[in-house]
Amino acid sequence: SGEKKTWMRQPIIVVLGHVDHGKTTLLDKIRGTAVARKEPGEITQHVGASVVPASVLKKLAEPLRKYFPKLVIEIPGLLFIDTPGHELFSNLRKRGGSVADMAILVVDIIEGFQPQTVEAINILKEKKVPFVVAANKIDRIEGWKPHADTPFLESIRDQSPRTLSLLEEKIYGLVGKLYEHGFEAERFDRVRDFRRTVAIVPISAKTGEGIPELLALIAGLSQQFMKKRLVTSEEPAKGVVLEVKEEPGLGTTIDVIIYDGVLRRNDVFVVAGRNGPIVTRVRSLLMPRPLQDMRMHEGRFINVDLVTAATGVKVAAPGLEDALAGSPFYVVPSDDKVEEYKRITQEE
Ligand code: GTP
Ligand code: MG
Repeated sequence: SGEKKTWMRQPIIVVLGHVDHGKTTLLDKIRGTAVARKEPGEITQHVGASVVPASVLKKLAEPLRKYFPKLVIEIPGLLFIDTPGHELFSNLRKRGGSVADMAILVVDIIEGFQPQTVEAINILKEKKVPFVVAANKIDRIEGWKPHADTPFLESIRDQSPRTLSLLEEKIYGLVGKLYEHGFEAERFDRVRDFRRTVAIVPISAKTGEGIPELLALIAGLSQQFMKKRLVTSEEPAKGVVLEVKEEPGLGTTIDVIIYDGVLRRNDVFVVAGRNGPIVTRVRSLLMPRPLQDMRMHEGRFINVDLVTAATGVKVAAPGLEDALAGSPFYVVPSDDKVEEYKRITQEE
C-alpha cells in the first residue's frame, strides 16, 4: 500500500458583506489585474468559486516586498467564494460561512455597517471563522487621489492631511461598530496580535489600492495560524453542498465545495436529503469550461475524472432531486461504512 500522498490545499476564503459594498468588484479586480498584467499561472474558475494561484498572489503582492522582505507564500493559492449581499440570500451566506477557513468582510467605508454586515458578522461568530475587514471604496473619500494597483501604505503618502483625517474618522467608525459586536479591531498596520485583533484593510476594489496588502495579509494569516488544517491527502472527499441545481441534459446536480481529499467519477457518496440521507454514485464531475475555449454547442462544462481539494465542482448523479443545499458531502470509503456515513450526514 505505501504512504498516502499529502499536500497543502488552498485556504477557502468566503467574501461576505452588505449588498453593493463591492464583493464581486473586488474579486473581478484581482482577476482583472492578473489578466491585464499577463501574470503566468492562471486564475481558474471553479463551480461556485475561483482559485487565485500562488504565482499570481506573489506578483500581486510584489509591491510590498520593500516593506515585508520576508513575505514568503507557501500556500498553493486561495480559493474564493463570492456571496450575494441581498437580504434574501441569507442561506447562501450561511453555507459560505460553514465551509470557510477565513473570511473577508467587505464594508463600504462611506456607508459603514448595514444590516447584512451585521448578519455576516453573526454568521462568522457562530461558525468561529476568523476574518479581516476590507474597508472598501476609499477612492470615494473626499479629495482622494487614486493610485492604480498601489499598496495602501504607499498611496496614503500622497493624500492631503484633510483626506487622511476623513479616512481615520471612517476607520474609527468601523472600529467602534466592531467593538459593539464583540471584536477588537485596528487598521492592519497597527495590529500587534492578529489572533486578538481584527485587521481592517482600507482598499478600493475600483483602483486596486490596498489589494496587495489584503492578499498578503490573508495569505500570511492562513500560513501562520491554519497550516495543519490545510494539510489534506488522497483520502475519500469531504465537502459542503453550496447549491442544488437543475441542468439541461444532466438532471438535478449539486455544486459542492471540496475541502478535503480526492473525488473521483463513480465514487459512492452521501448527502442529506428532504426525506433522509441520499446514497448515490458520481456519474460525472463537471468544471466550468475556460472562457477562451467556449465554442458553440459545447456547453458550459467539461467532464473531468477526478478533482482534489480545495475545489468547487458540479456533481451529476442519479437521485439528487431531494438533496439539501447546505448539506455535508462525504464519499463513502467502503461498502460496510454506508450506514455509518448516513448517520454522520444526518447528524450534522
Ligand atoms: P451584491 O453582490 O449585490 O451584494 O453586491 P457586491 O457587494 O458584489 O457589489 P458590487 O461589486 O456589485 O459593486 C456594487 C457597486 O459598487 C458597483 O457599481 C461597483 O462598481 C461599485 N464599487 C465597488 N467597489 C468600488 C470601489 O472601490 N470604489 C467605487 N467608487 N465604486 C465601487
Ligand atoms: Mg456581488
